[in-house]
Amino acid sequence: MKGIERLGALQEDKEVVTLVCPGRETPDGPSTGAVRVEPASGLRGVIRVPGDKSISHRAVIMGAMAEGETVVEGFLAGLDTLATLDAFRALGVNIDCPEEGRLVIRGSGAGGLRAPSAAIDARNSGTTARLLAGLLSSVPVECVITGDDSLRKRPMARVVDPLRLMGADIVYQGAESRLPLRIRGARLKGIEYATPVPSAQVKSALLLAGLNADGPTTVVETAVSRDHTERMLRAFGAEMTASPTPGGGERVTIEPGVLKARTVRVPGDISSAAFFMAAAAVTPGSEIVIENVGVNSTRTGILTVLGRMGARIGTEREDTGEAEVESRVEVAHGALKGIDLNGAELLRAIDEFPVICVLAAFAHGTTTISGAGELRVKESDRIEAMAGSLKSIGAQCVERPDGIVIEGTSGRPLRGGRVESRGDHRIAMAMAVAALNTESGIEIDGASCADVSFPGFFGLLDGVRR
Ligand code: S3P
Repeated sequence: MKGIERLGALQEDKEVVTLVCPGRETPDGPSTGAVRVEPASGLRGVIRVPGDKSISHRAVIMGAMAEGETVVEGFLAGLDTLATLDAFRALGVNIDCPEEGRLVIRGSGAGGLRAPSAAIDARNSGTTARLLAGLLSSVPVECVITGDDSLRKRPMARVVDPLRLMGADIVYQGAESRLPLRIRGARLKGIEYATPVPSAQVKSALLLAGLNADGPTTVVETAVSRDHTERMLRAFGAEMTASPTPGGGERVTIEPGVLKARTVRVPGDISSAAFFMAAAAVTPGSEIVIENVGVNSTRTGILTVLGRMGARIGTEREDTGEAEVESRVEVAHGALKGIDLNGAELLRAIDEFPVICVLAAFAHGTTTISGAGELRVKESDRIEAMAGSLKSIGAQCVERPDGIVIEGTSGRPLRGGRVESRGDHRIAMAMAVAALNTESGIEIDGASCADVSFPGFFGLLDGVRR
């Protein structure tokens, strides 16, 4: 590869187990391979990014729960979404992958699942663990859900507490609020629940449980988290209503019901596209077009952030007639300025925090991100991870309990150096973007965890660099 060197053999955590498509194997779990990314003198090209991670999870879940044959196009074969796919295969659902990105799921409704023979391993995927906790609490099977070291440290009470209010039978097998969870499916009652922190995973867990409950289930959020579950449930025939609440929140209700199979087209993941948007914005001599970006309005915070920072960005909506909207996005290098980021806009860009920190590191002036305490319980403590990584390559920043303050270089390259991904895909990719505008490049330890959401990331980056 031109400016990206893989250092040493990838060391797998476990043996290769997942068969995605006949004849194709995918490593099971983040591995520890190191990658060195050299500075670039510009990025140019027209690219497509892999399917949306959140939507791919949901397509498998709904296809498995629906009656009939669901076809998924554009499925992301990342480690996280494969954890969901493997979980449903273990629950007895027949899922074929006739070609890359295409799934055929033969669902037979809530009653069609069988108890898995071993614990369901959600690996690194919070979405798998939390959405399945909701769904499996409401169907007649008994199972254990566990995950990798990172996921077993992440809080589960946020879904377990409200599910217990619905009557769910869930036991923590180890520490309080942590995986593994033992779940015995039960007849749940519909409730109304106001989430303490807006979270699509909590909302989705309750809506999926509500599908099989004995009455309507309502989730009230103070700000609107990503709404892929609601859109897809409606498309699969669920009866749902949503209405705004004062102050910018939303109240979503689902009636119990049966889902009907359909075809789902998964757009490209804006959270993956964000790395290329940012790379083009900060690397002099760059101009990148990304053709298939999902632009659901609950996810487009990165576009408004880039706009407010003064980036040269253009979008052109493509009407696909699907529940989710796609756009072609063009970004060119230009001077950026620091911004304040918080509240609803931050929620709409919550997974883009690492790469927004990189944009801020090259902007003119100060960027202050606040109200972001949730980022401490993602795949890593992303506030600590970005503050530590940026400092180690020569950036100026201060970590705050609920965010970060970053002093930009006004476009000047950073020094470069060596960083550790902490097993977090988005930290690895954000630091690869930072490396493009450094004096000496960056060596990223544990970089292959990018496969969690963006298999092929380093190859694609190498393909567009000059
Ligand atoms: C996700 C929801 C978000 C996001 C995560 C994926 C989803 O988490 O950070 O990467 O697919 O529902 P929260 O719901 O915890 O905010």
